[in-house]
Amino acid sequence: MTDLDAVLGNAGPTGLKERIAAELAAVRERSLAYTDADDDMLVRQHSSLMSPLVWDLAHVGNYEELWVLREVGGIEPLRPEIDHLYDAFRYPRKDRPTLPLLGPAEARKYISGVRGRVLDVLDRVDLTDPDPLRSRGYVFGLVLQHEHQHDETMLATLQLSRRPGLVRDGELPPGRPAAEPEVHIPAGVFRMGTDTTPWAYDNERPAHRIYLPGYWIDRHPVTNGAYLEFVEDGGYRDPRWWLPQGWEWAERNGVEAPLFWTRDGDTWWRVRFGREEPVPPDEPVQHVSWFEADAYARWAGKRLPTEAEWEKACGGRTYPWGEADPGHLGRWANLGHRAARPAPAGAFPDGASPYGVEQLIGDVWEWTDSWFQPYPGYRCFPYEEYSKVFFGETYRVLRGGSWATHPSAVRTTFRNWDYPIRRQIFAGFRCARSEE
Ligand SMILES: [Fe+2]
Repeated sequence: MTDLDAVLGNAGPTGLKERIAAELAAVRERSLAYTDADDDMLVRQHSSLMSPLVWDLAHVGNYEELWVLREVGGIEPLRPEIDHLYDAFRYPRKDRPTLPLLGPAEARKYISGVRGRVLDVLDRVDLTDPDPLRSRGYVFGLVLQHEHQHDETMLATLQLSRRPGLVRDGELPPGRPAAEPEVHIPAGVFRMGTDTTPWAYDNERPAHRIYLPGYWIDRHPVTNGAYLEFVEDGGYRDPRWWLPQGWEWAERNGVEAPLFWTRDGDTWWRVRFGREEPVPPDEPVQHVSWFEADAYARWAGKRLPTEAEWEKACGGRTYPWGEADPGHLGRWANLGHRAARPAPAGAFPDGASPYGVEQLIGDVWEWTDSWFQPYPGYRCFPYEEYSKVFFGETYRVLRGGSWATHPSAVRTTFRNWDYPIRRQIFAGFRCARSEE
């Protein structure tokens, strides 16, 4: 996919429209691939944390209808009676299977009908119109990123289903050991967030200057092998490493290893998309909660980085390696489901930031120590339910995207957030420590 800045800067409105149409086709192909399963698989709820897959499928079409067809195209609602079913704020995920949802065939028909009209709107819209939804195709960036985000959610659902044979895997470059496992980031001011990235969300704006004292940050995300030392050292049985709420959560839920891990004698196994395999030691750990990440960091004599520290380590560019398109098979990062797993530590030396920090983008979302809060001067756009209603001391920020994140839905300023107990997302972490 795209270096969006380059596309939007150089291609002009016609080139941009072609690019948007191609991106829309690609994301739909992805959504249909993840829902290419029997009806029972699609309508069943595989976990109370997740919607049935068929909900996600119709929801992306409904969202596209609301924003592109109604807001920008001025088109009358196609199926006003179903809007409430696909409003993500109306019913909690656990209740969605009991709703009169569109069935798989009907959902596919609905989203394809919406899409046809979306392409008509794209054809006639003026992308140089200063209206913020139209300007440089913002509304199309909104729905593209939204659908890719739901595709990642669908992958989490497919992982929770433990059903084999539905998610393709792929090849990844080998890892390499780090000569210096930590990188020093000197004290100083850096620019956090963005004013200029065309399709950036409201929560990434505005850019603002922040001073950070010097600190150290891990060159790579924490690997399974390193995490296993914490497990084997009794980390889950020692309250010294845990925040009280984290300790209580782990005790109550019998948590003693990352989600999807089991021990058989001396060997740790994991289930990955329905298949059991030994836990690979050099891959970044994933499926850990914020509480586990925080406990590991304390055990290791470190702490989680703040999101400002994480972003500064990227070196002030759109991607840590610069402005170039990460693509699906680029040499910079493991993104866009090129394989169904994180790449081993050290697999992407060309993706290092100017400071030499690696694998910041792709592989695993990285928990940070920060709550999800607005930046100074935040302005809500285009609707409160994207970011604003989540601000506060409830959600922790994750950065950098995972192997399942599409290149169009991540950049160094991109912010994700979740409850500190969540483990079904493709999340790991790296550690930091302050200068002595
Ligand atoms: Fe959504």
